Amino acid sequence: MMCEGNKIARPLDGVLGFDHHESDDFPGKDHAHHSLVSGMQALNGYDSLHAFHCFEQCRHQFGDIANINYFMAIALIRMNRLVEAAALLQPFIALPHPQPNIKRLWDFLNHSDITHSSGCVQSESAQQTKHYFGVSLLTPTTLANIATSYELWNEILSFHKLLATDEYIEYVDNFYRQSMKRFGKYWHYMDISNVLYASSKILQPERYLEIGVRRGRSVCVVSRGCPTVDIYAFDMWAPDYAGMPNPGPDFVQSELVRHGHQGKIIFTNGDSHHTLPEFFKQNPGLIFDLITVDGDHSEQGAWDDLKMVVPHLSPGGILVFDDISHPAHPYLRQVWRKIMEMYPFLSGYEYTEKGYGVAFAIRQD
Ligand SMILES: C[S@@+](CC[C@H](N)C(=O)[O-])C[C@H]1O[C@@H](n2cnc3c(N)ncnc32)[C@H](O)[C@@H]1O
Repeated sequence: MMCEGNKIARPLDGVLGFDHHESDDFPGKDHAHHSLVSGMQALNGYDSLHAFHCFEQCRHQFGDIANINYFMAIALIRMNRLVEAAALLQPFIALPHPQPNIKRLWDFLNHSDITHSSGCVQSESAQQTKHYFGVSLLTPTTLANIATSYELWNEILSFHKLLATDEYIEYVDNFYRQSMKRFGKYWHYMDISNVLYASSKILQPERYLEIGVRRGRSVCVVSRGCPTVDIYAFDMWAPDYAGMPNPGPDFVQSELVRHGHQGKIIFTNGDSHHTLPEFFKQNPGLIFDLITVDGDHSEQGAWDDLKMVVPHLSPGGILVFDDISHPAHPYLRQVWRKIMEMYPFLSGYEYTEKGYGVAFAIRQD
């Protein structure tokens, strides 16, 4: 604390706007100050959900203090709750001379298609026109450009270290950071994380199906892109998969909570070659905006999983298939190509330049 004459001023009073109050001393001020400090620390540590709750507490005490709204907006942006963030920033824009950086942020939030699209990236007149080119505006290369953009990688890095980590994740985290530092906006690299995060942000899927969940890294990435998504998670929780513990649904559920997931999570435990057919028998009409196949990596197993899920991909939906150039599974790329031939309504993309490779496809009709 700092002393100014007979008043006691704290380092963050200016942030709260207390210097505009008649009196320095009123009930609850200490509590608000504590919430603010905790919120700032959480924001700094990229625990956006906690930061948001702290700032909410602060606001609860003192109402709409503009500066707190700004910090809440930052936390919301990191959680991809962009529409709410834009609403909080709106009063700043109404000021006679809004700060240019806030104005830019607000303009971005309001004019970004990413904020407003849902389920499938449709043209505005999608209801009336005949779809000569299919229902989706999204092309695979567009998705690849978004997935590999500097902005998107920065967003991923803001939470990547918080994903359930293991030796491999630590390695890729370092790899991402070093590459970004070295090549900046020219860096071009894809794996399941940036493909899923971009897909989830763009589609804002209602339902996501994943085969092969393990410690929840990919479901958490999807939830980061769209916190309200309902997740259908299939895994047999093979013990010590790839030499790492595979703790199961409770662990994954707590991971999702930690990452701010707000939708449902439905686990189906067991061998996907039995559980998937049974699931679709029970839910024949259920379709998914986003699907990942990352379970059984055998040739027959991957083929069966892919063949089973494609008919349940919604028009405009995205299918993601991991590890197409993994040296331990050299046949996976062929499996993917056969699936592309079998389903001509899928428009596919392969990335094999570096790492273990990833493929995705957008359903056109
Ligand atoms: C490569 S890991 C999934 C990684 C996860 N997508 C991620 O991003 O962290 C593969 C997972 O698939 C599961 N799995 C393997 N074969 C399976 C099968 N036949 N049915 C269901 N799950 C299976 C394993 O238990 C393991 O958790």
